[in-house]
This record gives sequence, C-alpha cells and structure tokens, in this order.
Amino acid sequence: MSNQDSTTATALNGTEIPAAVIVLAAGAGTRMKSRTPKILHPIGGISMIGHALRAARAVQPRDLAVVVRHERDRVAEHVSGLDSAAVLIDQDDVPGTGRAVQVALAGLDERSGSPLAGTVVVTYGDVPLLTPETLRDLVAVHQGEGNAVSVLTAVLEDPTGYGRIQRHEDGTVVAIVEHKDASPEQRAIREVNSGIYAFDAAVLRSALTRVDVDNAQGEMYLTDVVGIARADGGRVAAVVQEDRWQVEGANDRVQLAALGAELNRRLVERWMRAGVSIVDPSTTWIDATVALEEDTTLLPNTQLHGETFVARDAVVGPDTTLTDVVVGEGAHVVRTHGSGSRIGAGASVGPFTYLRPGTVLGEDGKIGAFYETKNVTVGRGSKLSHLGYAGDAEIGEYTNIGCGNITANYDGVNKHRTVIGSHVRTSSNTVFVAPVTVGDGAYTGAGAVVRKDVPAGSLALTVAPQRNIADWVAEKRAGSASAGAAGAAGASPDKNTPSSNPTEEKSTQA
Ligand code: UD1
Ligand code: CA
Repeated sequence: MSNQDSTTATALNGTEIPAAVIVLAAGAGTRMKSRTPKILHPIGGISMIGHALRAARAVQPRDLAVVVRHERDRVAEHVSGLDSAAVLIDQDDVPGTGRAVQVALAGLDERSGSPLAGTVVVTYGDVPLLTPETLRDLVAVHQGEGNAVSVLTAVLEDPTGYGRIQRHEDGTVVAIVEHKDASPEQRAIREVNSGIYAFDAAVLRSALTRVDVDNAQGEMYLTDVVGIARADGGRVAAVVQEDRWQVEGANDRVQLAALGAELNRRLVERWMRAGVSIVDPSTTWIDATVALEEDTTLLPNTQLHGETFVARDAVVGPDTTLTDVVVGEGAHVVRTHGSGSRIGAGASVGPFTYLRPGTVLGEDGKIGAFYETKNVTVGRGSKLSHLGYAGDAEIGEYTNIGCGNITANYDGVNKHRTVIGSHVRTSSNTVFVAPVTVGDGAYTGAGAVVRKDVPAGSLALTVAPQRNIADWVAEKRAGSASAGAAGAAGASPDKNTPSSNPTEEKSTQA
C-alpha cells in the first residue's frame, strides 16, 4: 500500500498521506462588518486563514487548495504570501459549500492530470483554533475505519445555526440537516457538523454530481454528500471533538475576540508549562509566532508580537509591548514599546522607552528612561541613560551618553549618520548635528552643539561663555516675587520698596 511511487505513500502514524486538503474561504463574512475580508483578520498574530493553512500543512497533503471568491485578489495575495505552494481555486457564482468543494476537486484533478484518489480533507478558513493533531486524528480514524466520509462533530449547549448530525442507531451517520431545513425534532439534536471532514475522493466526486440547490438557502450543500454517500452504501462516521473551541468559527468580532482570548490563554499556559514565569496570565498576550526560553519572566501587561524571542533569564515588563524584538539572555526590559530591535544579553531598557526598528543594543548596554531610538547600533557596555533621541547612529563600546543628548539626524530633506567611538563621555544636552563623527575617548561639554568632527581624546565645547548681569531682576522685574526673594538673599533691594537704591548694572563674567 505504501509504495513511494503510488499516490498512497505512508505518512506519520501509519496513515496515508491525504491527496489534498481543501480550505474553504470564498464566503463574504458579512457579519464582520469590515472592509478587510473576514479570514484576513488576525488572532494570535496570524490571520485566520494563516491558522487554517498551518493546520492543513501539518497533515502533509499532496495538494493544498484554497477556494476563493469574495475579495479574491486580496485573499489570493495573502494566501500566496503565506504558502506559495497553495493552489488557489476560484469558485463560480453557484453558491454553497458543496459547489466550493466541487470546483476545488475539479481544479485539482485537472492539475494532476488524473482524478485524485485517496483521502480529501475539507476544512474552513475561519476556524483558527483547530489543531494539526485534530486533523491528523480525523484522517487516521477515517482511514482506519475505511470510511467513505468522516465528519468532525461537536456537542453544543446551543446548536442554533449549525447543521445537525442524524445518527443511525448503530452510531454511524445517516445525514446532516441544515438548521434552516430542519424539523423541530431535528433541531433538538445537539450534535453539530463542524464543517471539517475527511472524504474518499471518488465518493466525494460522485456524490457532488448529485447535490442540488433544492433547500432553504438555494445553495449546493456539501452536507448533502453525507446522505448520498450513505445511500450509495458507504460508511459515514462522526468523530466527536470534545474541545468545542477547535471547531468554533469566527463570524463576527465578538466571536473573534472570544477565540483570540482563548487562543492566548492556551499559548500562555503552554509557555508556563515550558518554564516561563508569567505573573499575570490575564494581561499577558503572546502571539503564536513568539518564542521564549526557559526561565524567562513576563510581568503584567506585557504583549509579545511577531517574531519576538526572549532568551533565558530575561525579564520583560510590566507594561511592555514588543514586536519582532530579540531580547538577550538576562536582559531587563521595563515599560517599553519596541519593534524591529535587538537587545543584547545583560542589557537594560526602560522605563518609558521607545525602541524603533533598527535599534541594536549591545551586551550589558543600557537605553534608559524616556529615550527614543531608531536605526542605531549601541556597542557593548555603552549607556544612553536618560532623556534623549538617538537615530541613524553608531556608538562604540563603553561609551556614556549624557542626559538629554540628541542626534540631529534630519536636515529637513535627508537623514545623516552620527558616529561616536568607544569610551566617549558626552555631557548633558549635547546635540550631534549629523553627519558628524566623534573619536574614541573624546568628551563633550554640557550643551555642546557638535557640528564638526571631534578627534579622539578631544573635549568639544561650543557654548558661549556665561555672562551674569547683576541686579537685572531688581531692575527689570521690580515688584516681582523673584525680586523680593533676591533682595532677601542679599541682592539689591526691590526698586518698588521705599528704601530702594538701585545700583548700576554690573556684569560679571563666568
Ligand atoms: C456550514 C455547514 C453546517 C455546519 C457549519 C459549521 C453546509 C451546507 N453547512 O454552515 O452544516 O454546521 O458550516 O460552521 O456546509 N464557503 C465557500 N463558498 C460558498 C459558501 C461557503 O467557500 O459558496 C466557505 C465559507 O467561506 C466558510 C465555509 O465555507 O469558510 C462555511 O460557510 P458558511 O456559509 O459559514 O456555512 P454555514 O452556513 O455556517
Ligand atoms: Ca451559509
């Protein structure tokens, strides 16, 4: 049976590789009330169709087809971006899940040059919590029992709207009746059709030619294949899924949020079991694409998105949002909003820090409170501790950037680079007017506006000498609280008081 050259090579756990998985994604999803197609809405950092493609790929089908129609080009582009090997099938104007599968099967048959044989799995683009294991188990049962059709079902408290599973007394499935077509007795059935099936390809192809649109919705129902296959003598079985979340679709934004919260709860729990300390699971959000090492700690209100990775012993949070950020071993990231950045081992970031794309902080480095960075490389052990902006810059090792330093990188038209060496000490409020280079071991004075390169070891001073104009306050702000305070401190008395005796303006130079 498991001949390499045949269409029935053996996959994992002894089952045959499915000939195809068909993902239905042609529907409009109107209840979402969105300009974005329903299946492109994300949960856990991945679009719903992205989750469907992941689960579909996991059963290693020979072909993976996605049926599209609504917002065809946008959906097609998104699907191809995620899975370039996925076959896009356009559904015509005939409505219904049956028609969607029929055109997909015809399209796949044509592509392969001969009718597909073996198992064909059908699933939806909007059931994001469905796991690869569930699909694999469905295929295993289907093949193990030699079924013509195997349908994944769930028993719900409120089955309203779903197709109901009509069972024979021997437990096999007789038919699926859509809610809108069901009698009151049939509506009392609480076992529902998930819309996820494994079919024998030949049975499916044959039955679909006999599915009509003679029903309450005037659609070609895929569910009708069940009754037809049974009437043809095929065995139809139901596989009950206890975990109802896995078969739940997101039809509106309320369901989308509920599924998103449940997915997050599962991801957070999985990470805790893998050795991550999560102080407040309810306010911690972790995308399905994030990776965390053992002994990391996530503090309350932390959101980790995209390709974020946190290495061993690092602490992230509280109140931190990281998207595509790599956090090195033992680093601390507090109250930070960051994206597209790398934080070195043992480094510290925050609080109130905005890391924009291209920020690379070296080992044991620091980007401190109230800092914004962008496209900047900070070497090992260098510190940007307080209040500043560093953009389009390169800073060497063990350099200390003083409080309030700014790289003036933009001349109104172009961006320019600032290059600062190693072991540099810059004083408070230094402005680097790029392009400019500061050599190793150089210093700057407080308030320096560095427009010219600073050679290694030099001290750059640009601020004019200070002038103190004596008794200026008594003269120009007579009667003010400042003048009074100055007088009390021994300066010239306030001119507004009777005893006033203004002196000549004296100036001293500092
Ligand atoms: C369908 C099932 C129902 C099941 C329910 C589970 C049928 C007739 N009914 O009902 O038994 O309980 O799913 O959620 O199959 N789609 C297409 N082309 C179409 C129509 C739909 O690709 O012409 C896709 C949709 O994008 C969606 C899926 O098929 O991903 C299901 O369509 P939907 O209209 O939501 O099916 P239901 O009426 O809910
Ligand atoms: Ca429908």
